[in-house]
Amino acid sequence: MSSRVLSGTRPTGCLHLGNLMGALENFKKLQGEDSFFMIADLHALTTEYEEKASLRERVMEVVIDYLASGLDPDQCTIFVQSEISAHAEMALLLSMITPLGWLERNPTYKDQLRELQGRELHTHGFLGYPVLQTADIVLYKAEKVPVGEDQLPHLELAREIVRRFHYLYKEEIFPEPQAVLTQVPRIPGLDGRKMSKSYDNCIYLSDSAEVVKKKAKTMITDPARKKREDKGHPEVCPVFLFHQLFNASEKEKVAQECREAMRGCVDCKMEMIEKLNDFLEPIRKRREQWMKKKDQVEKILNHGRRKASQVANQTLLEAMRAMGLRD
Ligand code: TRP
Ligand code: SF4
Repeated sequence: MSSRVLSGTRPTGCLHLGNLMGALENFKKLQGEDSFFMIADLHALTTEYEEKASLRERVMEVVIDYLASGLDPDQCTIFVQSEISAHAEMALLLSMITPLGWLERNPTYKDQLRELQGRELHTHGFLGYPVLQTADIVLYKAEKVPVGEDQLPHLELAREIVRRFHYLYKEEIFPEPQAVLTQVPRIPGLDGRKMSKSYDNCIYLSDSAEVVKKKAKTMITDPARKKREDKGHPEVCPVFLFHQLFNASEKEKVAQECREAMRGCVDCKMEMIEKLNDFLEPIRKRREQWMKKKDQVEKILNHGRRKASQVANQTLLEAMRAMGLRD
């Protein structure tokens, strides 16, 4: 039997190229296996609990981005985290056995506290983010978790919590989950930092071809190449990385011409932008079509909820038994 797959995305806005190339490409590859893809709306509340505008709309955006980028609801289960109460319950159970020190040491926690300054994030929920994520994973007994590189510390913690559970209750209920990374698990944004909504440096799957062009023109290139005559270093240039992804057949030519100063950065970008738009166009088309079929999207989520809750409730019961809450 193929192994169980689970992953999730926080509905904090439309999906971008970083989400797509960093994780979603693998969702697509793994969807033929026994796979569950979640919209982590409870996780969105860990940082955006003050936001009162409807989370549901943002959930729908992510589902539509999932479908547009090629997830097929006949091949995988798509569901919303908060619709299955077992997630909250399992997170509470796991919180009983997770030492605070593990959470306080979590590098993602420390990074985010620094990055999202101005927001009050010294909350129980935010510190417990990885506990909830572990609950998501173990409820489905997932072995493979396709994610971006930034999630590796969370998966390490998930394995530690699983091991502690087994040690404490002498029952091996859960597999130890492994991350599945894409070839380029960390995509640079327009400014060269990691592509992230909080840096405002993203190309979104929902951006029109015009917007993509306008944004991508501002991308940084090899900083050492000041003049047209300067020889470039493609290996440090985000535009070149995009050539590798979206213009793969020409990548050697691009690299060589860059190194020998035989191509200018402006032309190089324009060529890349065209290929990028070719790649995004079918996604945009499918996105528009799904936007007109929201009833059908609701049906997909309903179906997903039923399927996921069966699995999740069963595992929750096993965990409650192991912990002595049920006979
Ligand atoms: N923390 C993940 C992210 O920000 C989202 C997520 C929530 C997740 N639950 C998960 C990913 C379970 C994998 C498995 O990208
Ligand atoms: Fe980057 Fe292309 Fe300029 Fe080379 S020529 S530095 S690859 S944009």
